[in-house]
Amino acid sequence: MRRTLSFLLNGRPVRIESAPATATLLDWLRGQGLTGTKEGCAEGDCGACTVAVTHLSGGRPVVEAMNACILLLPQLEGRAVRTVEGLGGTDPVQQAMVSRHASQCGFCTPGFVMSLVAARHQGRRDWDNVLAGNLCRCTGYGPIVAAAEDAADAPAAPWLAEDAGRLAALAHGEDIALAGGFLPAGLDSLRAHLARNPEALPVSGATDVGLWVTKELRSLPPVVFLHRVAELARVEETPAGLRIGAGVTLGRLRGLMAGRHPDFAELIRRFGSVQVRNAATIGGNIANGSPIGDGAPALIALGATLRLLGPEGTRELPLEDFFLDYRRQDRRPGEIVESILIPPGTPRLRCYKVSKRFDQDISAVCGCFAIGLTGGVVTSARIAFGGMAATPRRARAVEAALAGRPWTEDTIAAAAEAFASDFRPISDHRASAGYRLRVARNLLRRCFEEERRPLRETRLAGWGAA
Ligand SMILES: Cc1cc2nc3c(=O)[nH]c(=O)nc-3n(C[C@H](O)[C@H](O)[C@H](O)COP(=O)(O)OP(=O)(O)OC[C@H]3O[C@@H](n4cnc5c(N)ncnc54)[C@H](O)[C@@H]3O)c2cc1C
Ligand code: FES
Ligand code: FES
Repeated sequence: MRRTLSFLLNGRPVRIESAPATATLLDWLRGQGLTGTKEGCAEGDCGACTVAVTHLSGGRPVVEAMNACILLLPQLEGRAVRTVEGLGGTDPVQQAMVSRHASQCGFCTPGFVMSLVAARHQGRRDWDNVLAGNLCRCTGYGPIVAAAEDAADAPAAPWLAEDAGRLAALAHGEDIALAGGFLPAGLDSLRAHLARNPEALPVSGATDVGLWVTKELRSLPPVVFLHRVAELARVEETPAGLRIGAGVTLGRLRGLMAGRHPDFAELIRRFGSVQVRNAATIGGNIANGSPIGDGAPALIALGATLRLLGPEGTRELPLEDFFLDYRRQDRRPGEIVESILIPPGTPRLRCYKVSKRFDQDISAVCGCFAIGLTGGVVTSARIAFGGMAATPRRARAVEAALAGRPWTEDTIAAAAEAFASDFRPISDHRASAGYRLRVARNLLRRCFEEERRPLRETRLAGWGAA
């Protein structure tokens, strides 16, 4: 058992004795005099605090942009963090930012640079996505994107291979105990720890928990960090379906869904930002029980089941049964979300996220539809919504109004009325109750139009050929 955290900071090994479990990386960096990493919002929105975090995957270094303001220091164990100071002023991104006059206020610039440094090492050029989590309020995006293009094909920075070598040397399989926190190295020690400390607060990506620290100034109970438990990050294709570990990040889930459920992948593209998705996990998204979380409606519509792991072993339940009431989940003391199973053979999933902004916004309403059709008749319907009730929930009356009926405008019109018996949404700063209900009905109509368009197009193409 160790009592120190070990990670790399700008290439140098760092060992921290008695680190408080809830210290943020941003506060710690600035305390070290590394003030290039800025604090804008302290809640993961603006990107001014973006740093590049490297971990090894199959022995290869993976560089990801993350928000230092909501990363807790223990989450860096075994990883390498690079701040703008660690680029030495010579990175092609920095040079391109200068030659393109892409820095105006300058406050946000280090964050932009670090997002682009991570992106160029991943070979990305989808700048709208890459920069959705970096706010420039003086509308300077044109020159920033031009700088991004200029630097996109530059060779990998020399520090990347150096960090990879040092990370391999840093790796160890010991548990770590800190003041107020525990970092199990694997599933067995996690289970033993939870049996002894059922009140411990699990932390995965800390994209929710980080805000409890920075915004709500909460004192947390003893924390157990899950990110070193490799078993929780597994993905397995089994005859029963695709089993996704709770520790899989939203960034990785997007890639997994791209070929299977493209609408879900697109929904995830609008989940926070690159920085948020690189840290946030699907397990944390479900476990937090938020009525406006985006993962649950899609997974419920897909018929997913949840596996919980506790001191007495594992148990499984349909995902929708996990959500009991507002922020009250069927999770017993000492239990964690272990994995999610998506069954095979589900009909095409359609997902719609309605929010005030396209990027970096929480849903006012999120509607997901998996409608099975045979010969123009509805053979199965699973519909789930976020933002319409105190929990993510199925629209069972709407489903019943569709089942066995012809997929026609009359059926849709009748089914749309059933939303009023499924949901009594609230009015809040995101949307009024009336708006939410109207949006839900319109999303069903949109799903109808999108489902029948390919049919109509096929028929028209057939006529054209004739
Ligand atoms: C800027 C920003 C934008 C965001 N945008 C979106 C968005 O578009 N859509 C959306 O749905 N959410 C969004 N979120 C919310 C958040 O990112 C997600 O809920 C995320 O998936 C939480 O995962 P995490 O791993 O970071 O959880 P954590 O913060 O680590 O934990 C969240 C909760 O789950 C518990 N927990 C974590 N892992 C487990 C586990 N395996 N078993 C049991 N309990 C566990 C924790 O104890 C805590 O109660 C956003 C957050 C931020 C800061
Ligand atoms: S300070 Fe705004 S995202 Fe971290
Ligand atoms: S350059 Fe900083 S807000 Fe635009």
